[in-house]
Amino acid sequence: MHHADLALAVIGGTGVYRIAELTDVESHLPETRYGFPSGPLRVGRIDGHRVAFLARHGEEHGVPPHKINYRANLVALQMIGATRVLALNTVGGITERFGPTVLACPDQLIDYTWGRISTLSEEPGTDVLHVDFGDPYAPALRAQILAAAQRSGVALVDGGCYGATQGPRLETKAEIARMRRDGCDLVGMTGMPEAGLARELGLQYACLGIVANWAAGCGDEAEITMAEVLANVETASTGIPPLLRSILAG
Ligand code: HPA
Repeated sequence: MHHADLALAVIGGTGVYRIAELTDVESHLPETRYGFPSGPLRVGRIDGHRVAFLARHGEEHGVPPHKINYRANLVALQMIGATRVLALNTVGGITERFGPTVLACPDQLIDYTWGRISTLSEEPGTDVLHVDFGDPYAPALRAQILAAAQRSGVALVDGGCYGATQGPRLETKAEIARMRRDGCDLVGMTGMPEAGLARELGLQYACLGIVANWAAGCGDEAEITMAEVLANVETASTGIPPLLRSILAG
């Protein structure tokens, strides 16, 4: 394992289980002090830059949002040299600018999850951490992503508030109406504790939201189906390889 030269770590969400552009792929399954990550780290190259990829739910999507070992995932990436983490999160859209197939780079979040291990300070004897989290996504990395989107002509909505729900069920219309009143633009199940842990670990972390559906009560559909979610993720994902290439070139 070479450490110093890992340009970017990418965590894939629902519907993104690999990066086809990754070449010379090596796989690592490091055991961390928190156990094993959701699956192997796929480490390879894109245009000569070393990139690591991890499927957050496992490559067969076997791990539900509340059971993901977020600590092991991030620490495993850090063990192979990650300093910058781009988190791909499949989300529902709540407000107008965030319709299905949109790519978004949110700048805020609200955490509605519960019962998840959400800190490195969980175990007795570990130092209690109160990290600053006013801007939950690393401003410098967000700026790099937004500039890369501009250069590559990939449409990307700048900003927005990600609401992290417990799942694995989708939300009620009343829950989404409350989230809208709270100021949320996007809803997903995996944004937290991942972002908070990344901050505790000193990782540069940003979110790329892939809007898969209108959240409950926000669109015309009677029901949100996994088929719709996966089809829209596939459509939106065409922007991801050029965006990654541009981030790496920047
Ligand atoms: N709610 C929560 N998580 C999601 C959704 C949603 O509507 N769509 C994709 N992930």
